[in-house]
Amino acid sequence: MRVIIESDAQSASRRGANFVTDLVRKKPNCVLGLATGSTPQSMYRELIRRHKEEGLDFSQVRTFNLDEYVGLGPAHPQSYRYFMQQNLFDHINIPPAQTHVPDGRALDFETHCRQYEQLIKECGGIDLQVLGVGTDGHIAFNEPGSSLGSRTRLKTLATETIRDNARFFGGEDKVPRLAVTMGVGTILESRRCLFLAFGPQKAIAVRDTVEGPITAQVTASALQLHREVIGVFDEAAARLL
Ligand code: GLP
Repeated sequence: MRVIIESDAQSASRRGANFVTDLVRKKPNCVLGLATGSTPQSMYRELIRRHKEEGLDFSQVRTFNLDEYVGLGPAHPQSYRYFMQQNLFDHINIPPAQTHVPDGRALDFETHCRQYEQLIKECGGIDLQVLGVGTDGHIAFNEPGSSLGSRTRLKTLATETIRDNARFFGGEDKVPRLAVTMGVGTILESRRCLFLAFGPQKAIAVRDTVEGPITAQVTASALQLHREVIGVFDEAAARLL
């Protein structure tokens, strides 16, 4: 992993945005893998700024999000589709049909997951996958114990993830128990990964991901097997490296 450490999350986000910007400029019809959560938010803000002020053009870009809560539709404020609309898609010139987020209300998840993977392949594969990390070291919703060869599928959320996300739902009991998520194997197929982590609460996960053993207990550690991962951290998240 190529590790870049910036003093704070703001400058790290700008650094992350540079990798996305370079790709979109070089390959206007690139395929971006996108993530939700608080981590990529300021990078998305920076991309919106560059779109508005510098004309960064997303009109041909295709996007695939990592995951979605089961049971939540696009209008639910905690759904990842809603998050993406609010935090990026509604503010750039990407045609809606070119944005893909797994459907949390699919009738047949097995078919939906298979089709999601098929669509990624038909678009030529993911050029750059943006990733955050859970405090327990998970990527997307590949919770501890997920197979490192896993594909897009349904996953039961870990207690730690439910606890981490309870603040958004107004209580642990309101957090969905299941999610549909790209697998670790799916993520490893992307050509490049941009792995972002900010804040002291991510320090252990970052250490385990970058320097720990490759283990299904820390699914982000599988990124060590990938040839092109750029880790962009702030000092607090990188403190145990
Ligand atoms: C969830 C998401 C992950 C994300 C993680 C961390 O589990 N499925 O994709 O990386 O939360 O979120 P945050 O960036 O808010 O710390």
